[in-house]
Amino acid sequence: MTGGALPAWEREYRTAGADATRGFAERLAGFLGRGDLLLLTGELGAGKTTFTQGLGRGLGVRPGIISPTFVLVRQHPNLGDGPDLVHVDAYRLGSEGEIDDIDLESTMDRAVTVVEWGRGLVEHLAESRLEVVLLRAVGGDGAPGGSGAGLDFSADDDDEERVIRIAGYGPRWEQAPDLD
Ligand SMILES: Nc1ncnc2c1ncn2[C@@H]1O[C@H](COP(=O)(O)OP(=O)(O)O)[C@@H](O)[C@H]1O
Ligand SMILES: [Mg+2]
Repeated sequence: MTGGALPAWEREYRTAGADATRGFAERLAGFLGRGDLLLLTGELGAGKTTFTQGLGRGLGVRPGIISPTFVLVRQHPNLGDGPDLVHVDAYRLGSEGEIDDIDLESTMDRAVTVVEWGRGLVEHLAESRLEVVLLRAVGGDGAPGGSGAGLDFSADDDDEERVIRIAGYGPRWEQAPDLD
């Protein structure tokens, strides 16, 4: 059984930079526990790993969350009594069978499992899930006054706006966490 195709709720937030995205995810971590599954969707550079860093801080796991692109799974043990963080990059995985080969089931019960590019691949692992979509806010590249016409020395890659959409699927997430 999985949480199905329709979310119980969907919420949209905005952050003004990478630190704000980490802070937002840190707050979300306060609602998470062992067995929770999060799917992160968004193009390269959207902020999936940055978001995961905030989750890790909020959970209190060992720091050092980086893009797991060349290592499919990274485990970050909790420094206290909380859940571990299992961080997966499914970008190069093509099927549910390949997901099953990395055996996330063996760690799910003691961890929060976060899967970048997990959509369509890992829903079967849990009854419930949160889906997080990160989007570059409209008005980035090519916006009036943007950097398209020449060099823009005020551009700071770490301080762009992102839209963060979160949707809850399955009985675990009948209620939306209060993140405001
Ligand atoms: N509001 C924001 N939220 C998240 N990241 C941001 C934001 N604004 C700028 N950035 C930058 O965008 C990049 C996101 O990279 P990363 O988290 O590795 O993306 P992904 O894992 O989705 O490929 C980082 O360089 C980060 O500093
Ligand atoms: Mg990443």
